[in-house]
Amino acid sequence: MDATEITTEDDYTNAEEPPSMDGLPVIGSLPAMLDSPFEFSERLPDSRGVVRVRLAPIDLPMMPSELYYVDHPEAIRRVLVDDHASYRKPDLAKRAFADLAPNGLFVAEGDQWRRIRDVVQPAFGARNVQRYADAMVTETVRRVDEWDDGEPLAIADEARTITSAILGRALFSSDFTAIADSLRSVVDAMGAKLDVPASAVPTWVPTRTNRRFKRDVREFERVAADLVRKRRQVAADERPNDLLSALIVATEDRTLSPAELRDQLFVFLFAGHETTSLALTFACFHLAANPERCERLYAEVDALDGDPSIGALDEVPTSEHIAKEALRLYPPSVEVAREPTEDVELRGYRVPKSAGMILPVYSVHRDERWWDDPESFRPERWEREDVPSHEYAYFPFGGGPRACIGNRFATLGLRLVLATIARRYRFGLAPDRSADLDLRITPTLAPAEPIELIARER
Ligand code: HEM
Repeated sequence: MDATEITTEDDYTNAEEPPSMDGLPVIGSLPAMLDSPFEFSERLPDSRGVVRVRLAPIDLPMMPSELYYVDHPEAIRRVLVDDHASYRKPDLAKRAFADLAPNGLFVAEGDQWRRIRDVVQPAFGARNVQRYADAMVTETVRRVDEWDDGEPLAIADEARTITSAILGRALFSSDFTAIADSLRSVVDAMGAKLDVPASAVPTWVPTRTNRRFKRDVREFERVAADLVRKRRQVAADERPNDLLSALIVATEDRTLSPAELRDQLFVFLFAGHETTSLALTFACFHLAANPERCERLYAEVDALDGDPSIGALDEVPTSEHIAKEALRLYPPSVEVAREPTEDVELRGYRVPKSAGMILPVYSVHRDERWWDDPESFRPERWEREDVPSHEYAYFPFGGGPRACIGNRFATLGLRLVLATIARRYRFGLAPDRSADLDLRITPTLAPAEPIELIARER
């Protein structure tokens, strides 16, 4: 079948039931998935790319009774790109965001999604790249200049500080130093809130997690309102040309409602912050754990005439290879979720309307069918033109119209921050630290334990 054809009723009827994984009687596969989410996909039965996984006997508040695992790059491309109009974000994602940002770009659909995406898209366009690149280097230098030679660093905290400073400077033309703590609290509270089993408890139930969550959301709202109020005080023709101004102008001319403004602030402060800082944490960890694999980066940055810049990026290709390899092995968004709006056929299998679908980024990125030596950190693999072996064997930013709007911003940031750090420091592992990394899902992919790295001046 031609990959760009939309499924017809006949395709669906003629298609097969996908292989299924039922797990234990009554309790299904949920215990297996919670117990070892990272090995879970290895236990799935063979298929052409779609497996039906029975999780529980009935639908639970934040957990459907079954899910369809879609792990073949062809099928992933059809869901995200070719047939995207037949899929939407799952109800579950909408429920998870209901208390956070129900009108946020992340879960909006149809006309509302298009309207919001049109408002924010220009802020991520090529026109702004030069200014963003300058902010990325300046904010990194500002932070790393405070590091002492040989000092142990809690690298996730450092990465968060650098990322939020960049986000503030580039997209909000603001100094986020003063609000970094409250941003961090909201991000942590949101992680705790979206975690299983806390996510199954409605927000009105006064649990500790919910009380903390509500307090932190209120604090976030205060910070966001303050950003908006200060910007509104600036005359329209003197406002910086950034994401915040675009959102405010769109609210003033009623393209966006006040609730939509508030929700976009939430989405951009959260989505832009947490994912990128995790990617940076993983990349820095590998600079320390696999120094021989990263050696070229140091030679490249030493040959530069000063700090890296947008114009000199071509001279530091290894920064891109390290960023891509970190995002392959440790994709902060471990999976992309969808549900079909009609009965669909995928690789000859039936997937019924409204079924929960998981496109498992993490396991596709480590699948031997698409990757040589998939578990090893090998940035040099990206020098080859035939990598990835299939376009959708690598999709840390999703794909199609709903692909990450911050893709280029995040990749540019990772490259410039890594190169700026490498000009000044080499990372080493703390003496008792192994080069293996335990992971957890928070719901983003994060190190299970804090990572300490030693920064040595070069
Ligand atoms: C390494 C960093 C990042 C990763 C791994 C990442 C990952 C993703 C993924 C996988 C999606 C698609 C979700 C889906 O299809 O269901 C997405 C969407 C999105 N991301 Fe990112 N992201 C990153 C950085 C950023 C940044 C820096 C921003 C903004 C400042 C951002 C804002 C968004 C938004 C608003 C969406 C929703 C887009 C839409 O539906 O139109 N992300 N991201």
